[in-house]
Amino acid sequence: MLIVGISANVRCTQQPLSKTSPSSQILPSCLLPSLALVVLSYVKKSKYKSKTTMVLTPTIGEKSYNRQDWQKGYQSQPNEYDYEVEDIEGQIPPDLQGTVFKNGPGLLDIAGTAIAHPFDGDGMISAISFNHGRVHYRNRFVKTEGYLQEQKAGKPLYRGVFGTKKPGGIFGNAFDLRLKNIANTNVIYWGDKLLALWEAAEPHRLDAKTLDTIGLDYLDGILEKGDSFAAHPRIDPACIFDNHQPCLVNFAIKTGLSSSITLYEISPTGKLLRRHTHSIPGFCFIHDFVITPHYAIFFQNPVGYNPFPFLFGLKGAGECLINQPDKLTKIIIISRDPNKREVKVLETPSGFVFHHSNAFEQLAPSYVEGGEKIYIDSICYQSLPQLDSNSSFQAVDFDSLAPGHLWRFTLNLSENTVTRECILEHCCEFPSINPAKVGRDYRYLYIAAAHHATGNAPLQAILKLDLLTGEKQLHSFAPRGFAGEPVFVPKPDGIAEDDGWLLVVTYDAASHRSNGVILDAKDITNSLGVIHLKHHIPYGLHGSWTRQCF
Ligand SMILES: [Fe+2]
Repeated sequence: MLIVGISANVRCTQQPLSKTSPSSQILPSCLLPSLALVVLSYVKKSKYKSKTTMVLTPTIGEKSYNRQDWQKGYQSQPNEYDYEVEDIEGQIPPDLQGTVFKNGPGLLDIAGTAIAHPFDGDGMISAISFNHGRVHYRNRFVKTEGYLQEQKAGKPLYRGVFGTKKPGGIFGNAFDLRLKNIANTNVIYWGDKLLALWEAAEPHRLDAKTLDTIGLDYLDGILEKGDSFAAHPRIDPACIFDNHQPCLVNFAIKTGLSSSITLYEISPTGKLLRRHTHSIPGFCFIHDFVITPHYAIFFQNPVGYNPFPFLFGLKGAGECLINQPDKLTKIIIISRDPNKREVKVLETPSGFVFHHSNAFEQLAPSYVEGGEKIYIDSICYQSLPQLDSNSSFQAVDFDSLAPGHLWRFTLNLSENTVTRECILEHCCEFPSINPAKVGRDYRYLYIAAAHHATGNAPLQAILKLDLLTGEKQLHSFAPRGFAGEPVFVPKPDGIAEDDGWLLVVTYDAASHRSNGVILDAKDITNSLGVIHLKHHIPYGLHGSWTRQCF
């Protein structure tokens, strides 16, 4: 091990968010869940100046990864497995009891025809269950109508939102506006149902034990045929309108020249508590949102839409978004209070946000200086990351792209102003927090990150940020490992906010297999256990934890 002392100024020097990104084309490195050597980065506090001590291995140079390694994580996994994992390194914590579900594209091709973008890949659910130190792995494709049809036909039958085309060129694709519900973005267990989510259509329900697909699910009448249900629900741990019971909050977007946001609040037994719809002027591309006890908050990114390349079969629907860097981001604040259906819109300079970490509010005037405030932490890009339709997503040049960084937005509801500050200038995506802190003031944020503190690169590490002191820890899997979203699992008897574990699915290019890694959330440099799977899982998207063992 080579020990290097580095003095680093961590003041955010990122260009203003309104600066446009390179015109040719960007793949969101953050959305390319990319997963053992440990790098310990300890930043002594000052949010702006700090001394960083890093422990590096001599094998990791300026570039922490090899492109061929990274690309291998995007090979299809057509097989479905079901086995008890025996190859385990370390010790599974005895009180780690439950199941982590993960979703993501399992196929990067359709019967041998490569898809244009991982977001077009058919959803595959993985379940890793922990039961008294024993670990079980199971994966199943979501047997959507489109998946079954295409596997039977042996060729693509649908156009993908992100550019996958049917055979036949323009004439084979033009004016076919059908959507294939690929159910590939998130998976939650709520109301005794396991639901695979894709934001543009209805959820699919699966058997939580076998992962067999049951079918489209309308949430016992909450949804109607054709309704969408976003892939980023938030669980309010103690809803003030429901006697401090937990409550799932989610949304649906209908967009066009004018748009609408429907907010759903659903009880732990799956009953609809509240639903309200709000008209929003202009086009909306909103993937995620945040909640506080009183509000649901959305970032209306400054993008427009040109439908013609989609209509004429030249591009996927999602490739027709147009950056509008001259416009402002609108922050839409919708009251969750059943007696106040107010909507407030504030504005902030341009940028693009896929994911938020968390939000919290300070509304009691007695302890708030300068007005009522909401704080929102989000991963921001200079503009919408887009792909070149004419080249493979695997050809992305990370070095030419601007990475996503973590910003804090402070909304002053009394003065109708927004201020923003970059709080983590380190390529990062897929934030995770202790679920008890959703919508509340919080201290610890966990996020997948690049190995190096500067530049843009695949995600190869997990970073813990102490929002109070600015201290950071980094657990890196570089040079041959790539990391996905961490899932925070609270300890059953935990008291402190960071009393818990992080469950991370990593891809190890050396073995071409994936691992389930258990990190101590208090000290993430401490790996408690590594579950070696017998195969790889293609880079995934989102997942969740339930205390039930399936
Ligand atoms: Fe997402």
